Amino acid sequence: MFAMKLSNVEFRAMNTPWRRWGHKYFEMPMFRRLGLEARDKEVLEIGCGNGYGAYLLNQLGPKSYIGLDVMEEQIEIARRRYPQYNFLIQDAADLSRFTEGSKDVIVIFGVLHHIPEWRKVIDEIARVLKPGGSLFLEEPRGLDIKFFDFLFRWGHPNTDFGLKALEKHLTASGFRFQKLWTPLLTMYHCTK
Ligand SMILES: C[S@@+](CC[C@H](N)C(=O)[O-])C[C@H]1O[C@@H](n2cnc3c(N)ncnc32)[C@H](O)[C@@H]1O
Repeated sequence: MFAMKLSNVEFRAMNTPWRRWGHKYFEMPMFRRLGLEARDKEVLEIGCGNGYGAYLLNQLGPKSYIGLDVMEEQIEIARRRYPQYNFLIQDAADLSRFTEGSKDVIVIFGVLHHIPEWRKVIDEIARVLKPGGSLFLEEPRGLDIKFFDFLFRWGHPNTDFGLKALEKHLTASGFRFQKLWTPLLTMYHCTK
């Protein structure tokens, strides 16, 4: 399946100070409330965008960090801003470069709703996580995605992604999860 880039409108929105503010003061604290720890852990971030998540996650003292994103333009920004961290241009539906059970923590800040093959990404994560490892995941509701597209023309790809379908597939893949609902995003801590 062809991996899609962000629309110009969303690309610009992801690269604003407002986005960084939300990332730092809202999403990271919510993940921390759900139990995010990274000290001495092997961390993988999926859809790392411009690298601000790399900066935040590396404050937690991981043993290793890799951020991947399918969009070259995002990875170029990430590498320019944070040359000290490790970034890859990679489609998340193919994590074959990572061996089974090699990561302690996998983090996703709002990415699966962009990927038509999002179920395959979850299957790959289930393979790559160590037993007892954690997936921290945040996604918007399907309805909110449509609302943003109507109002701001963000142009998300047309997929069957939705939180009910997500939870169903997480359970089918052997994950248990806790979640925190917020008006824009639902945050999950998933364990196997
Ligand atoms: C809404 S942005 C979020 C970016 C970043 N996580 C943040 O919170 O600012 C979604 C990101 O997912 C990336 N993405 C979309 N499809 C992808 C795929 N198949 N594999 C990896 N990354 C993908 C996009 O390039 C984009 O950087």
